[in-house]
Amino acid sequence: MTRMIEVARDSVKEPMPKASFRVSHKLADHPLFQLDRLARLAASLPADRVEFNGPVAPNQDPNLTPSNGMTPEETVRRIEEAKSWMVLKNVESDPEYKALLDACLDQVAEQTGGLMGGARQRQAFIFVTSPGNVTPFHSDPELNFLLQVRGNKRMSLFDPADRAIVSAENSELYPGKHRNLPYEDGFEAKATHQHIEPGEGIFVPIFAPHWVQNGNEVSVSFSITWHTEESERLVKFSYVNAMLRKFGMPQGEVGASPVWDDLKVAAYNILRPVYDAVKHVVGGRHRALALFFGKKEVAAAAG
Ligand SMILES: [Fe+2]
Repeated sequence: MTRMIEVARDSVKEPMPKASFRVSHKLADHPLFQLDRLARLAASLPADRVEFNGPVAPNQDPNLTPSNGMTPEETVRRIEEAKSWMVLKNVESDPEYKALLDACLDQVAEQTGGLMGGARQRQAFIFVTSPGNVTPFHSDPELNFLLQVRGNKRMSLFDPADRAIVSAENSELYPGKHRNLPYEDGFEAKATHQHIEPGEGIFVPIFAPHWVQNGNEVSVSFSITWHTEESERLVKFSYVNAMLRKFGMPQGEVGASPVWDDLKVAAYNILRPVYDAVKHVVGGRHRALALFFGKKEVAAAAG
């Protein structure tokens, strides 16, 4: 198969790099990213796998996110004038996109001597955005290559360890938490700015906070994500730390106590199936959260 993605020799020295780096790819003319194909994909995905909205700001209050009043398919077809942001989630549920995701990550693995692009939890997302639109400030709990297919965008990217940018509390995960993070204009002086054009891409480190400004054209980006053993542990710490904080026991950073860290991972491995089973039995996340954390959490999670 043609090489879809190129990772420069020596740009990867560890399975979970802490800093962003650039890659190139050959997806700009790929038929799977033509708007007509994307509109059909948007129409075929379950409603909870398509998220879209009208114009937002980097510091967007999630409770005030504007709707654009259109269906997912219309949003793609009219993206030029829709003033909208859209993400199609888990597009690997479509066999054609799954084949492309696997080809890209297999090629990354091949070019990095197996260090990156591993086979754990591979997922793919497609962002379709109107000219000038913004993706608010957030971070993602996975390793990610963001590949620019059409139009251009600028990502402001921050150090995930900088607690002046995202507090320990805001960096923690819990079921139902909205991904937007509090943002201040003053943060920008600490950002690394990555501009990407069609054929270019960047690696986004796990939990690295970022927000995105699109250029003056329609933008289409392909995001391919995966996990390593270490990244899965980080996500588990994050959930357990959030839970302990809710019980009045805020935790230190990962790595401060390896034995305690191992215990937290073990606790997560026991508690997660219990939580999932309770969620199934009580009929949803909000009721399960109410049982685990008390009634107050239902309102917080609903945001
Ligand atoms: Fe992101």
